[in-house]
Amino acid sequence: MPAEISVGIHDLSFRTTSFVLPHTELARYNGTDVAKYHKGLGQLSMSVPAVDEDIVTLAAAAALPLVQHHGADTIRTVVLATESSIDQSKAAGVYVHSLLGLPSQIRVIEVKQACYGATAALQFAAALVHQDPAQRVLVIASDISRYDLDSPGEATQGAAAAAMLVSADPALLELSGTSGLFTADVMDFWRPNYRATALVDGKKSVAAYLEAVQSTWRDYVLRGGLPLEEFRTFCYHQPYTRMAFKAHQALLEECGVHTNEETLHKAVGTTTVYNKVVGNSYTASLYLALAAALDNCHDLDGETLGLFSYGSGSVAEFIAARVRPGYRSHLRAGEHRESVNSRQTVDYETYRELSCQALPTDGNTYELPHQTRGPFRLAALRDHQRIYEASS
Ligand code: HMG
Repeated sequence: MPAEISVGIHDLSFRTTSFVLPHTELARYNGTDVAKYHKGLGQLSMSVPAVDEDIVTLAAAAALPLVQHHGADTIRTVVLATESSIDQSKAAGVYVHSLLGLPSQIRVIEVKQACYGATAALQFAAALVHQDPAQRVLVIASDISRYDLDSPGEATQGAAAAAMLVSADPALLELSGTSGLFTADVMDFWRPNYRATALVDGKKSVAAYLEAVQSTWRDYVLRGGLPLEEFRTFCYHQPYTRMAFKAHQALLEECGVHTNEETLHKAVGTTTVYNKVVGNSYTASLYLALAAALDNCHDLDGETLGLFSYGSGSVAEFIAARVRPGYRSHLRAGEHRESVNSRQTVDYETYRELSCQALPTDGNTYELPHQTRGPFRLAALRDHQRIYEASS
Protein backbone atom coordinates (compact mmCIF):
# COMPACT_ATOMS: atom_id res chain seq x y z
CA MET A 1 0.00 0.00 0.00
CA PRO A 2 1.41 3.46 -0.90
CA ALA A 3 1.89 5.80 2.10
CA GLU A 4 -1.13 8.07 2.74
CA ILE A 5 -0.47 11.52 1.29
CA SER A 6 -2.20 14.68 2.39
CA VAL A 7 -3.97 16.60 -0.37
CA GLY A 8 -5.77 19.89 -0.16
CA ILE A 9 -5.71 23.64 -0.76
CA HIS A 10 -2.20 24.99 -1.06
CA ASP A 11 -3.17 28.60 -1.86
CA LEU A 12 -6.48 30.49 -2.05
CA SER A 13 -7.22 33.84 -3.63
CA PHE A 14 -10.43 35.67 -4.45
CA ARG A 15 -11.35 38.79 -6.37
CA THR A 16 -14.59 40.67 -6.80
CA THR A 17 -15.95 43.30 -9.18
CA SER A 18 -15.05 46.98 -9.66
CA PHE A 19 -18.38 48.40 -8.47
CA VAL A 20 -20.48 48.01 -5.33
CA LEU A 21 -24.06 48.94 -4.49
CA PRO A 22 -24.78 49.51 -0.79
CA HIS A 23 -28.11 48.09 0.37
CA THR A 24 -28.96 51.54 1.74
CA GLU A 25 -29.23 52.60 -1.92
CA LEU A 26 -31.49 49.67 -2.82
CA ALA A 27 -33.66 50.47 0.20
CA ARG A 28 -33.77 54.16 -0.78
CA TYR A 29 -35.11 53.15 -4.20
CA ASN A 30 -37.66 50.52 -3.21
CA GLY A 31 -38.73 51.84 0.21
CA THR A 32 -37.77 48.65 2.09
CA ASP A 33 -36.72 49.04 5.72
CA VAL A 34 -32.94 48.64 5.35
CA ALA A 35 -32.92 46.54 8.55
CA LYS A 36 -34.50 43.76 6.47
CA TYR A 37 -31.37 43.69 4.32
CA HIS A 38 -28.82 44.34 7.07
CA LYS A 39 -30.31 42.10 9.76
CA GLY A 40 -32.94 39.91 8.06
CA LEU A 41 -30.67 38.85 5.17
CA GLY A 42 -27.32 39.83 6.69
CA GLN A 43 -26.26 41.77 3.60
CA LEU A 44 -24.70 45.24 3.60
CA SER A 45 -23.78 45.65 -0.06
CA MET A 46 -23.49 43.75 -3.34
CA SER A 47 -20.71 43.56 -5.89
CA VAL A 48 -21.76 44.85 -9.31
CA PRO A 49 -19.77 43.98 -12.46
CA ALA A 50 -18.53 46.64 -14.87
CA VAL A 51 -19.57 46.17 -18.52
CA ASP A 52 -16.12 44.78 -19.37
CA GLU A 53 -16.11 42.29 -16.45
CA ASP A 54 -17.47 38.76 -16.65
CA ILE A 55 -16.75 35.34 -15.15
CA VAL A 56 -13.59 35.02 -17.28
CA THR A 57 -12.02 38.33 -16.21
CA LEU A 58 -12.92 37.67 -12.56
CA ALA A 59 -11.56 34.12 -12.72
CA ALA A 60 -8.29 35.22 -14.32
CA ALA A 61 -7.90 38.04 -11.78
CA ALA A 62 -8.41 35.59 -8.88
CA ALA A 63 -5.98 33.02 -10.30
CA LEU A 64 -3.25 35.45 -11.40
CA PRO A 65 -1.56 35.77 -7.97
CA LEU A 66 -1.40 31.97 -7.62
CA VAL A 67 0.28 31.54 -11.00
CA GLN A 68 2.63 34.48 -10.35
CA HIS A 69 3.64 33.07 -6.97
CA HIS A 70 3.87 29.33 -7.66
CA GLY A 71 4.53 29.26 -11.40
CA ALA A 72 2.57 27.12 -13.84
CA ASP A 73 5.02 24.27 -14.39
CA THR A 74 3.28 21.71 -12.21
CA ILE A 75 -0.30 22.67 -13.14
CA ARG A 76 -1.73 19.92 -15.35
CA THR A 77 -5.43 20.68 -15.01
CA VAL A 78 -7.64 23.77 -14.75
CA VAL A 79 -11.24 23.27 -13.64
CA LEU A 80 -13.55 26.26 -13.73
CA ALA A 81 -16.87 25.92 -11.97
CA THR A 82 -19.63 28.34 -12.87
CA GLU A 83 -23.35 28.64 -13.38
CA SER A 84 -23.04 31.96 -15.26
CA SER A 85 -21.45 30.33 -18.27
CA ILE A 86 -20.67 32.49 -21.32
CA ASP A 87 -20.71 29.69 -23.90
CA GLN A 88 -22.59 26.41 -24.30
CA SER A 89 -19.59 24.68 -25.81
CA LYS A 90 -16.22 26.22 -25.06
CA ALA A 91 -15.04 26.09 -21.45
CA ALA A 92 -14.54 29.55 -19.92
CA GLY A 93 -11.31 28.22 -18.41
CA VAL A 94 -9.73 28.09 -21.88
CA TYR A 95 -9.90 31.91 -22.05
CA VAL A 96 -8.44 32.04 -18.54
CA HIS A 97 -5.67 29.65 -19.60
CA SER A 98 -4.82 32.05 -22.43
CA LEU A 99 -4.99 35.23 -20.32
CA LEU A 100 -2.69 33.67 -17.71
CA GLY A 101 -0.25 32.35 -20.33
CA LEU A 102 -0.44 28.78 -19.00
CA PRO A 103 1.47 26.02 -20.83
CA SER A 104 -0.27 24.01 -23.57
CA GLN A 105 0.20 20.67 -21.80
CA ILE A 106 -2.84 21.19 -19.59
CA ARG A 107 -6.42 19.91 -19.62
CA VAL A 108 -9.13 22.56 -19.08
CA ILE A 109 -12.77 21.86 -18.31
CA GLU A 110 -15.86 23.61 -16.98
CA VAL A 111 -18.19 22.05 -14.43
CA LYS A 112 -21.74 22.94 -13.42
CA GLN A 113 -24.22 22.11 -10.71
CA ALA A 114 -25.44 25.47 -9.45
CA CYS A 115 -23.46 26.71 -6.45
CA TYR A 116 -22.15 23.21 -5.69
CA GLY A 117 -19.94 23.03 -8.83
CA ALA A 118 -16.70 24.23 -7.23
CA THR A 119 -16.86 21.55 -4.55
CA ALA A 120 -17.19 18.87 -7.24
CA ALA A 121 -14.20 20.52 -8.95
CA LEU A 122 -12.25 20.40 -5.70
CA GLN A 123 -12.97 16.69 -5.27
CA PHE A 124 -11.97 16.00 -8.88
CA ALA A 125 -8.76 17.97 -8.31
CA ALA A 126 -7.98 16.07 -5.10
CA ALA A 127 -8.47 12.73 -6.89
CA LEU A 128 -6.07 13.81 -9.68
CA VAL A 129 -3.44 14.82 -7.15
CA HIS A 130 -3.85 11.51 -5.28
CA GLN A 131 -3.26 9.79 -8.63
CA ASP A 132 -0.12 11.84 -9.32
CA PRO A 133 1.11 13.83 -6.29
CA ALA A 134 3.64 15.75 -8.42
CA GLN A 135 0.90 17.63 -10.27
CA ARG A 136 -1.18 20.57 -9.12
CA VAL A 137 -4.70 21.50 -10.15
CA LEU A 138 -6.03 25.04 -10.48
CA VAL A 139 -9.66 25.13 -9.37
CA ILE A 140 -11.58 28.33 -10.04
CA ALA A 141 -15.12 29.20 -8.96
CA SER A 142 -16.46 32.24 -10.80
CA ASP A 143 -20.00 33.59 -10.86
CA ILE A 144 -22.19 36.63 -11.31
CA SER A 145 -25.50 36.23 -9.55
CA ARG A 146 -28.43 37.91 -11.30
CA TYR A 147 -32.10 37.94 -10.34
CA ASP A 148 -34.89 39.98 -11.90
CA LEU A 149 -34.82 43.62 -10.85
CA ASP A 150 -37.46 44.36 -8.19
CA SER A 151 -37.74 40.68 -7.25
CA PRO A 152 -37.05 39.37 -3.69
CA GLY A 153 -33.82 37.79 -4.93
CA GLU A 154 -32.41 41.13 -6.14
CA ALA A 155 -31.04 42.02 -2.70
CA THR A 156 -28.98 38.82 -2.63
CA GLN A 157 -27.08 39.42 -5.90
CA GLY A 158 -23.30 39.57 -5.99
CA ALA A 159 -20.25 38.42 -7.93
CA ALA A 160 -16.77 37.07 -7.26
CA ALA A 161 -14.24 34.44 -8.25
CA ALA A 162 -12.16 32.25 -5.94
CA ALA A 163 -9.08 30.40 -7.20
CA MET A 164 -7.49 27.48 -5.36
CA LEU A 165 -4.30 25.61 -6.06
CA VAL A 166 -4.83 21.98 -5.06
CA SER A 167 -1.68 20.02 -4.28
CA ALA A 168 -0.05 17.34 -2.17
CA ASP A 169 1.32 18.51 1.17
CA PRO A 170 -0.79 21.70 1.03
CA ALA A 171 0.16 24.82 2.99
CA LEU A 172 -3.38 25.86 3.98
CA LEU A 173 -5.89 23.07 4.30
CA GLU A 174 -5.89 19.29 4.16
CA LEU A 175 -9.10 17.77 2.79
CA SER A 176 -10.50 14.71 4.53
CA GLY A 177 -11.62 11.75 2.40
CA THR A 178 -14.98 11.38 4.15
CA SER A 179 -17.95 13.24 2.69
CA GLY A 180 -21.62 13.52 3.52
CA LEU A 181 -23.61 13.65 0.26
CA PHE A 182 -27.19 14.50 -0.74
CA THR A 183 -29.05 14.91 -4.03
CA ALA A 184 -32.74 15.71 -4.49
CA ASP A 185 -34.59 16.68 -7.67
CA VAL A 186 -36.15 19.96 -6.52
CA MET A 187 -37.13 23.09 -8.48
CA ASP A 188 -36.02 25.64 -5.92
CA PHE A 189 -33.80 27.76 -8.19
CA TRP A 190 -32.91 27.31 -11.86
CA ARG A 191 -32.01 29.27 -14.98
CA PRO A 192 -33.17 27.97 -18.38
CA ASN A 193 -30.67 28.59 -21.21
CA TYR A 194 -32.79 31.40 -22.66
CA ARG A 195 -32.77 33.48 -19.46
CA ALA A 196 -30.15 35.89 -18.12
CA THR A 197 -31.65 35.88 -14.63
CA ALA A 198 -32.45 33.00 -12.31
CA LEU A 199 -35.93 31.80 -11.46
CA VAL A 200 -36.43 30.98 -7.83
CA ASP A 201 -38.98 29.80 -5.31
CA GLY A 202 -37.33 31.61 -2.40
CA LYS A 203 -38.99 29.92 0.56
CA LYS A 204 -38.72 26.48 -1.05
CA SER A 205 -35.01 27.12 -1.69
CA VAL A 206 -34.37 27.91 1.96
CA ALA A 207 -36.21 24.75 3.06
CA ALA A 208 -34.38 22.64 0.44
CA TYR A 209 -31.03 24.03 1.61
CA LEU A 210 -31.80 23.26 5.27
CA GLU A 211 -32.95 19.74 4.45
CA ALA A 212 -29.67 19.25 2.59
CA VAL A 213 -27.66 20.41 5.63
CA GLN A 214 -29.30 17.79 7.85
CA SER A 215 -29.18 15.05 5.23
CA THR A 216 -25.49 15.52 4.38
CA TRP A 217 -24.63 15.57 8.08
CA ARG A 218 -26.53 12.29 8.64
CA ASP A 219 -24.64 10.72 5.73
CA TYR A 220 -21.35 12.13 7.02
CA VAL A 221 -21.93 10.57 10.46
CA LEU A 222 -22.98 7.23 8.92
CA ARG A 223 -19.72 7.11 6.99
CA GLY A 224 -17.63 7.51 10.12
CA GLY A 225 -17.12 11.29 10.00
CA LEU A 226 -15.77 13.29 12.93
CA PRO A 227 -18.07 14.17 15.85
CA LEU A 228 -19.49 17.71 16.13
CA GLU A 229 -17.12 18.67 18.97
CA GLU A 230 -14.09 18.18 16.70
CA PHE A 231 -15.07 21.15 14.53
CA ARG A 232 -13.75 24.58 15.35
CA THR A 233 -15.91 26.46 12.85
CA PHE A 234 -18.30 25.82 9.96
CA CYS A 235 -18.17 27.46 6.54
CA TYR A 236 -21.51 27.30 4.74
CA HIS A 237 -22.52 28.31 1.24
CA GLN A 238 -23.91 31.81 1.81
CA PRO A 239 -26.58 32.96 -0.68
CA TYR A 240 -27.05 35.67 1.96
CA THR A 241 -25.17 35.51 5.21
CA ARG A 242 -28.15 34.92 7.55
CA MET A 243 -28.45 31.58 5.74
CA ALA A 244 -25.24 30.43 7.43
CA PHE A 245 -26.84 31.03 10.83
CA LYS A 246 -30.01 29.15 9.82
CA ALA A 247 -27.86 26.34 8.42
CA HIS A 248 -25.80 25.97 11.56
CA GLN A 249 -28.90 26.00 13.71
CA ALA A 250 -30.33 23.19 11.55
CA LEU A 251 -27.12 21.19 11.88
CA LEU A 252 -27.10 21.61 15.68
CA GLU A 253 -30.77 20.62 15.86
CA GLU A 254 -29.89 17.47 13.90
CA CYS A 255 -27.26 16.76 16.57
CA GLY A 256 -29.79 17.42 19.35
CA VAL A 257 -27.91 20.53 20.55
CA HIS A 258 -29.86 23.58 21.74
CA THR A 259 -28.40 26.88 20.68
CA ASN A 260 -28.80 30.64 20.83
CA GLU A 261 -27.77 33.63 18.73
CA GLU A 262 -24.47 34.00 20.62
CA THR A 263 -23.28 30.43 20.03
CA LEU A 264 -24.34 30.61 16.39
CA HIS A 265 -22.42 33.84 15.98
CA LYS A 266 -19.35 32.29 17.57
CA ALA A 267 -19.49 29.32 15.20
CA VAL A 268 -20.14 31.11 11.89
CA GLY A 269 -19.96 34.91 12.40
CA THR A 270 -16.37 35.31 11.17
CA THR A 271 -17.08 33.31 8.02
CA THR A 272 -19.53 35.98 6.80
CA VAL A 273 -17.25 39.03 6.66
CA TYR A 274 -16.62 38.92 2.91
CA ASN A 275 -19.96 37.55 1.72
CA LYS A 276 -21.98 40.16 3.58
CA VAL A 277 -20.39 42.91 1.47
CA VAL A 278 -19.97 40.91 -1.78
CA GLY A 279 -23.37 39.16 -1.99
CA ASN A 280 -24.05 35.75 -3.47
CA SER A 281 -21.18 34.64 -5.69
CA TYR A 282 -22.76 31.20 -6.21
CA THR A 283 -19.89 28.69 -6.71
CA ALA A 284 -17.38 31.04 -5.06
CA SER A 285 -19.52 31.85 -2.00
CA LEU A 286 -18.41 28.89 0.17
CA TYR A 287 -14.78 29.63 -0.66
CA LEU A 288 -15.17 33.30 0.28
CA ALA A 289 -16.55 32.01 3.59
CA LEU A 290 -13.47 29.80 3.92
CA ALA A 291 -11.17 32.72 3.06
CA ALA A 292 -12.96 34.82 5.69
CA ALA A 293 -12.39 32.15 8.35
CA LEU A 294 -8.72 31.71 7.47
CA ASP A 295 -8.01 35.45 7.13
CA ASN A 296 -9.84 36.53 10.27
CA CYS A 297 -9.52 33.76 12.90
CA HIS A 298 -6.01 33.96 14.29
CA ASP A 299 -5.46 30.58 15.88
CA LEU A 300 -6.61 27.84 13.51
CA ASP A 301 -3.36 25.84 13.43
CA GLY A 302 -4.34 22.14 13.36
CA GLU A 303 -8.06 22.93 13.79
CA THR A 304 -10.82 21.21 11.82
CA LEU A 305 -13.29 23.21 9.73
CA GLY A 306 -16.60 21.93 8.36
CA LEU A 307 -17.39 22.95 4.77
CA PHE A 308 -20.99 22.73 3.56
CA SER A 309 -21.61 23.15 -0.15
CA TYR A 310 -25.14 23.53 -1.55
CA GLY A 311 -26.20 23.91 -5.17
CA SER A 312 -29.88 24.36 -5.93
CA GLY A 313 -31.62 21.74 -7.91
CA SER A 314 -30.08 20.20 -5.71
CA VAL A 315 -26.74 18.63 -4.75
CA ALA A 316 -24.97 19.11 -1.42
CA GLU A 317 -21.82 17.89 0.28
CA PHE A 318 -20.32 18.22 3.75
CA ILE A 319 -16.56 17.79 4.14
CA ALA A 320 -14.05 18.28 6.90
CA ALA A 321 -10.76 20.07 6.34
CA ARG A 322 -7.81 20.39 8.72
CA VAL A 323 -5.93 23.68 8.83
CA ARG A 324 -2.20 23.13 8.37
CA PRO A 325 0.13 24.50 11.08
CA GLY A 326 1.81 27.70 9.87
CA TYR A 327 -1.06 28.50 7.44
CA ARG A 328 -1.09 32.18 8.38
CA SER A 329 2.09 32.98 6.52
CA HIS A 330 0.43 31.77 3.27
CA LEU A 331 -2.72 33.89 3.45
CA ARG A 332 -3.75 36.70 1.13
CA ALA A 333 -5.89 38.63 3.61
CA GLY A 334 -4.51 42.04 2.55
CA GLU A 335 -5.29 41.40 -1.14
CA HIS A 336 -8.77 40.17 -0.28
CA ARG A 337 -9.58 43.27 1.77
CA GLU A 338 -8.15 45.45 -0.98
CA SER A 339 -10.35 43.76 -3.61
CA VAL A 340 -13.43 44.41 -1.49
CA ASN A 341 -12.48 47.88 -0.24
CA SER A 342 -11.30 49.29 -3.57
CA ARG A 343 -14.67 48.86 -5.28
CA GLN A 344 -16.24 52.08 -6.48
CA THR A 345 -19.62 52.77 -4.89
CA VAL A 346 -22.43 53.33 -7.38
CA ASP A 347 -25.88 54.79 -6.75
CA TYR A 348 -29.08 52.91 -7.49
CA GLU A 349 -29.57 54.58 -10.88
CA THR A 350 -26.08 53.59 -12.09
CA TYR A 351 -26.55 50.04 -10.82
CA ARG A 352 -29.86 49.76 -12.67
CA GLU A 353 -28.31 51.06 -15.86
CA LEU A 354 -25.44 48.54 -15.56
CA SER A 355 -27.88 45.71 -14.83
CA CYS A 356 -30.05 46.51 -17.86
CA GLN A 357 -27.13 46.58 -20.31
CA ALA A 358 -27.24 43.34 -22.30
CA LEU A 359 -24.34 42.57 -24.64
CA PRO A 360 -25.36 42.65 -28.33
CA THR A 361 -25.94 39.27 -30.00
CA ASP A 362 -25.86 40.27 -33.71
CA GLY A 363 -22.22 39.31 -34.41
CA ASN A 364 -21.15 42.86 -35.29
CA THR A 365 -18.04 44.43 -33.79
CA TYR A 366 -18.48 46.28 -30.51
CA GLU A 367 -15.70 47.83 -28.46
CA LEU A 368 -16.59 47.90 -24.77
CA PRO A 369 -15.79 50.93 -22.62
CA HIS A 370 -12.88 50.46 -20.24
CA GLN A 371 -14.55 50.43 -16.81
CA THR A 372 -12.92 47.61 -14.85
CA ARG A 373 -10.14 48.19 -12.34
CA GLY A 374 -9.13 44.54 -12.62
CA PRO A 375 -6.11 43.16 -14.51
CA PHE A 376 -8.16 41.70 -17.40
CA ARG A 377 -11.09 42.92 -19.42
CA LEU A 378 -13.62 41.90 -22.02
CA ALA A 379 -12.47 44.36 -24.67
CA ALA A 380 -14.82 43.65 -27.57
CA LEU A 381 -17.32 41.39 -29.29
CA ARG A 382 -16.55 40.43 -32.88
CA ASP A 383 -18.06 37.73 -35.14
CA HIS A 384 -19.87 36.27 -32.11
CA GLN A 385 -16.52 35.96 -30.31
CA ARG A 386 -15.48 37.48 -27.00
CA ILE A 387 -12.17 39.31 -27.19
CA TYR A 388 -10.29 39.54 -23.90
CA GLU A 389 -7.17 41.51 -23.08
CA ALA A 390 -4.96 42.50 -20.16
CA SER A 391 -5.99 45.92 -18.84
CA SER A 392 -3.34 48.45 -19.71
P1 HMG B 1 -38.17 37.91 1.05
O1 HMG B 1 -39.59 37.53 0.82
O2 HMG B 1 -37.68 39.14 0.40
O3 HMG B 1 -37.84 38.18 2.56
O4 HMG B 1 -37.30 36.65 0.65
P2 HMG B 1 -38.57 37.67 3.91
O5 HMG B 1 -39.86 38.35 4.08
O6 HMG B 1 -38.53 36.16 3.98
O7 HMG B 1 -37.54 38.30 4.95
C1 HMG B 1 -36.23 37.83 5.04
C2 HMG B 1 -35.84 37.87 6.49
O8 HMG B 1 -35.77 39.24 6.88
C3 HMG B 1 -36.86 37.22 7.41
O9 HMG B 1 -36.15 36.59 8.45
C4 HMG B 1 -37.63 38.41 7.98
O10 HMG B 1 -38.20 38.18 9.25
C5 HMG B 1 -36.51 39.44 8.07
P3 HMG B 1 -36.23 34.98 8.63
O11 HMG B 1 -37.66 34.64 8.77
O12 HMG B 1 -35.68 34.42 7.34
O13 HMG B 1 -35.38 34.72 9.81
N1 HMG B 1 -37.02 40.83 8.07
C6 HMG B 1 -36.50 41.79 8.86
N2 HMG B 1 -35.52 41.77 9.77
C7 HMG B 1 -35.25 42.96 10.42
N3 HMG B 1 -35.92 44.11 10.18
C8 HMG B 1 -36.89 44.16 9.26
C9 HMG B 1 -37.24 42.96 8.56
N4 HMG B 1 -38.15 42.66 7.61
C10 HMG B 1 -38.00 41.35 7.31
N5 HMG B 1 -37.54 45.30 9.03
C11 HMG B 1 -35.43 35.29 0.17
C12 HMG B 1 -36.04 36.28 1.14
C13 HMG B 1 -34.11 34.79 0.74
C14 HMG B 1 -36.38 34.09 0.00
C15 HMG B 1 -35.22 36.02 -1.18
O14 HMG B 1 -34.24 37.00 -1.02
C16 HMG B 1 -34.79 35.11 -2.31
O15 HMG B 1 -35.61 34.52 -3.00
N6 HMG B 1 -33.45 34.95 -2.50
C17 HMG B 1 -32.89 34.11 -3.55
C18 HMG B 1 -32.90 32.62 -3.19
C19 HMG B 1 -31.97 32.27 -2.05
O16 HMG B 1 -31.04 32.98 -1.76
N7 HMG B 1 -32.22 31.10 -1.43
C20 HMG B 1 -31.34 30.61 -0.38
C21 HMG B 1 -31.23 29.09 -0.34
S1 HMG B 1 -30.96 28.37 -1.96
C22 HMG B 1 -29.25 28.56 -2.26
O17 HMG B 1 -28.51 28.88 -1.38
C23 HMG B 1 -28.78 28.33 -3.65
C24 HMG B 1 -28.45 29.57 -4.44
O18 HMG B 1 -27.24 30.14 -4.02
C25 HMG B 1 -28.40 29.23 -5.93
C26 HMG B 1 -27.49 28.12 -6.38
O19 HMG B 1 -27.29 27.10 -5.77
O20 HMG B 1 -27.04 28.25 -7.53
C27 HMG B 1 -29.53 30.64 -4.30
